[in-house]
Amino acid sequence: MDESKLSTGISGLDEMLYGGINRGNVVGLVGPPGSGKTLMSLQFLYKSLTDGNNCLYISGSHSERELVLQSKRYGWDIEPYIENKQLALMCLKPVQFVLRGEEFHLVSNYTDELPRIVNEIKKEVVIIDPITDFIMLCKNEIESRSRLLGLFSMIKDNNSTAFITAEAEAASGITKNAIVEYATDGLLVLRRVQSQDLSEITHVIQIAKMRWIKHMREIRQFDFTDNGIEVYSRYDVLLSG
Ligand SMILES: Nc1ncnc2c1ncn2[C@@H]1O[C@H](COP(=O)(O)OP(=O)(O)O)[C@@H](O)[C@H]1O
Ligand SMILES: [Mg+2]
Repeated sequence: MDESKLSTGISGLDEMLYGGINRGNVVGLVGPPGSGKTLMSLQFLYKSLTDGNNCLYISGSHSERELVLQSKRYGWDIEPYIENKQLALMCLKPVQFVLRGEEFHLVSNYTDELPRIVNEIKKEVVIIDPITDFIMLCKNEIESRSRLLGLFSMIKDNNSTAFITAEAEAASGITKNAIVEYATDGLLVLRRVQSQDLSEITHVIQIAKMRWIKHMREIRQFDFTDNGIEVYSRYDVLLSG
């Protein structure tokens, strides 16, 4: 394995990337809900751990117990890596409701807390699943752009490699204001497509961009298996419409 690259843990995807993700890159994984972002990020995490990398995994949507249990279902036991401190697993609540007087107030310090954690717990691999709340909690597009670019340059200054998931908006298929698409070095896009006879939904993946390295541009089909995500070598379901 090329030392300058990190395997994604998914052989078909590594093949599309001619080996894996470039170390030092910030790679985005964009897709609608249920498209496999969390699963793919856990698969990449487990592979990075077993390859000997120190990792920081920040979850904004699942508890530690849930992540440990669900990973085990695919044969990925992350607990020993938490115990030996190779993995820092941080489960955060992007927003909380606090009772003040008789009213509930929404409070959040997520846009400060997330960069603080990334900078304090410096690890070779940083995974954030998802970054969506961080963007939504900014007051406007300018703030979200500058905060996201600030976070990404901090990751690069720390010589880390990042894998960051983001929710695609249903109508457009891209993230809010396309900020993640714009700010990342590389972008993996997950989509669901309906077969021509409308009988099934197929999951597909495409590398929309990957700066500095050679990569495939074709759309490939993938599936969820008991061992995680498997990317197939060809795409053979006809699209409808
Ligand atoms: N073993 C499995 N067999 C079939 N489908 C699975 C399996 N594991 C996960 N899935 C599918 O994975 C999806 C959840 O993926 P997830 O990574 O949570 O998506 P996202 O994070 O993009 O919302 C579910 O919609 C489910 O259909
Ligand atoms: Mg998810």
